[in-house]
Amino acid sequence: MRNTVGIDMDRWRLSSGVSSFFSTSKFYCPAKFARTTHFGPIRASSTTNGSSEGVIYKSLSCRRRALLSMITLSLVPCDRVNSSFAAIAADEGFRLREEIGKVLSRGKAAGVLRLVFHDAGTFDIDEKIGGMNGSILFELDRPENKGLKKSLKILEKAKSQIDLVQSVSWADILALAGAEAISLCGGPSIPIQLGRVDSLVADPEGKLPEESLDATSLKQCFERKGFSTQELVVLSGAHTLGSKGFGNPTIFDNAYFKILMEKPWLAAASMTSMVGLPSDRALVEDDECVGWISKYAEDQSLFFEDFKNAYTKLVDTGATWKKSL
Ligand code: HEM
Repeated sequence: MRNTVGIDMDRWRLSSGVSSFFSTSKFYCPAKFARTTHFGPIRASSTTNGSSEGVIYKSLSCRRRALLSMITLSLVPCDRVNSSFAAIAADEGFRLREEIGKVLSRGKAAGVLRLVFHDAGTFDIDEKIGGMNGSILFELDRPENKGLKKSLKILEKAKSQIDLVQSVSWADILALAGAEAISLCGGPSIPIQLGRVDSLVADPEGKLPEESLDATSLKQCFERKGFSTQELVVLSGAHTLGSKGFGNPTIFDNAYFKILMEKPWLAAASMTSMVGLPSDRALVEDDECVGWISKYAEDQSLFFEDFKNAYTKLVDTGATWKKSL
């Protein structure tokens, strides 16, 4: 079973003084259990889209909540310990999202989401290399990653704050930050499983799709990553954000698909002919892609649901997970 956020229980015990309470408890001793254990699967739901959940979590100190959860745990019989630990791990996910939320804004969302794709998009299913592993840190000087340094820098501040309490991988930070970016711009809330391990080396070059590819080559490129045509189309919907996308650069909606269907670049030398990337335009030349584009143009809920699933797959792709039980 994959794991999730690992809580540094020794650190909590030292700082909270609840250690002796645990050791004398007649119930299961969670401190001993926790030292070698990660808990999963937990998904940390997004909190930035105005949900009441987010408001509640922002109103309390995370450390204090974790401590209170631990005290509660010592009173819980063995059979309920696992679910209580799960609650702590989920709580940690909220804390991570909270820190990321502090450094993100709508204007920065597109760059952060692109950063996620450029880290995860190196995956090759046959060679079993690449994927969501934080290796983008070593790849920023590559031409395809031009402009992404500033997006990484934005997240550095959040990571350094989080690391003060609990070390977290870049891969987890990126996966969460992309989900927060989407949510912040009005897109779906995407739960993210935590526990990815970072790579210490760069992934091979030449794995990301070039913007000049035609639909057949784009489909093949995504197939090599284990993604279907539907997933290629729905993930390309991320281009609804950003300066070169279709639609409002800071609003995540299905405008990308609606505008693609209209093929505005065919209109004579108007400003609208400048929007979109060649790879976006290529998609409407392929019948299978057009089928999905028209579905998403008509139904934003379907786009959100399918995007959520494809994004989850993207950020889990090629990831190495911390050891579990
Ligand atoms: C289908 C193949 C893809 C190609 C060929 C492609 C290529 C590109 C290119 C050339 C840009 C413009 C970069 C610039 O401003 O200079 C861009 C922007 C962007 N891409 Fe993609 N991309 C692809 C798929 C994806 C996917 C799957 C995602 C995320 C799930 C994504 C997210 C973004 C975002 C959010 C931007 C806007 C960045 C900004 O304005 O700062 N792309 N992409």
